[in-house]
Amino acid sequence: MFFALSLISAAILVAADTPESVASQFGLTTSTTLPFPAATASNSDAQALLVSQWGLSRGRIQNGAGDLSFVADPFPDKPAPGSATNSSGPVLQITYPEGSFSGDTGGAQFYNLWNSSGSAGFQSMLLSYEVAFDKGFNWVKGGKLPGLRGGSPNGCSGGNRSDGSRCFSSRIMWRLNGQGEGYTYTPTPNNICSDSKVSCNSDDFGTSLARGSFTFSSGQWNHVTMLVQMNNPVDIANGNIQVYFNNVLAFAQSNMQIRTTTNLTINGLYFSTFFGGADDSWATPETTHTYFRNLQLWGGSNPSTLAGAKVSSALPRLRSASTLLCAALLVGTLSVL
Ligand SMILES: *[C@@H]1O[C@H](CO)[C@@H](O)[C@H](O)[C@H]1NC(C)=O
Ligand SMILES: *[C@@H]1O[C@H](CO)[C@@H](O)[C@H](O)[C@H]1NC(C)=O
Ligand SMILES: *[C@@H]1O[C@H](CO)[C@@H](O)[C@H](O)[C@H]1NC(C)=O
Ligand SMILES: *[C@@H]1O[C@H](CO)[C@@H](O)[C@H](O)[C@H]1NC(C)=O
Repeated sequence: MFFALSLISAAILVAADTPESVASQFGLTTSTTLPFPAATASNSDAQALLVSQWGLSRGRIQNGAGDLSFVADPFPDKPAPGSATNSSGPVLQITYPEGSFSGDTGGAQFYNLWNSSGSAGFQSMLLSYEVAFDKGFNWVKGGKLPGLRGGSPNGCSGGNRSDGSRCFSSRIMWRLNGQGEGYTYTPTPNNICSDSKVSCNSDDFGTSLARGSFTFSSGQWNHVTMLVQMNNPVDIANGNIQVYFNNVLAFAQSNMQIRTTTNLTINGLYFSTFFGGADDSWATPETTHTYFRNLQLWGGSNPSTLAGAKVSSALPRLRSASTLLCAALLVGTLSVL
């Protein structure tokens, strides 16, 4: 009896998927930690630090430069469940002004190239960060949270779909009541949209993975770890996206075609957070905040080696001229979604 119990508790201990253990499991040998300042920093100092030290793809903060600063940790003794880390030092605060939702009205968005000197990129990457929401955070209908990105800084966001060759993105979203999900811009071949864990959004917006497979709590830290492994060869849908929440696997979506060309690789963090959503039904009713700390990346040169189905050569779904016109109008109006 005692023996069985201790075996079970040993198994539970071993099962904790810290980012270090996941990185090692997937052969990701290189890592980097985004630098934070030693003291709190006002908005202008925070912008200067990000521009000089975070490898921004455009050399500037793309959206919401006025909505970030480094502040004292609001939850210094509320670590993520399963984590031993309490904070010391400032954390990155993002502000979402009352009434804001996408469209560059609140939150922040930028693409951090790990290697801004222009590398060939990675075939697999792991992102880990801690996020906290103001106590009593009103989730409304949902919002974006950071993830990974590859290829061009344009597209694969904001309703500008992926064609599989120029870019991809894989972010996190919070939804109603703090439910979590993966949110990707990738091709969607082989009928993946009919998978029960996958929900393909209308027109050219992204794809939701495993909605509700984890749930954020406000007023404390939450630990998110995301693995992306490129599909290989490019006509096999064995791309792998796994998300761990508080060091426990939340979901694995292992039948993805993330790219159609080998020159599309993983280039870094896609820091992207705002309420929405493309209309004001997603807007925050009050000014509110999130906080980020311990942003780390691991990289590796091996893509997925999982078994996968060959991508069917069927043409992508056809769109009517009116759908195309609507999409063009939408893309014209919304730059951030
Ligand atoms: C973190 O803070 C909590 C609450 O104050 C405390 O119980 C815990 O021991 C702290 N952990 C560490 C590693 O300091
Ligand atoms: C960074 O870029 C340089 C220049 O292209 C390249 O030689 C190096 O391998 C890259 N490093 C990483 C970690 O990607
Ligand atoms: C890969 O090559 C194709 C064909 O030349 C090009 O259209 C595409 O933009 C390239 N993708 C990247 C990420 O460089
Ligand atoms: C959509 O993204 C592509 C790159 O994937 C880019 O070339 C194009 O300009 C973007 N279109 C708009 C309207 O932003």
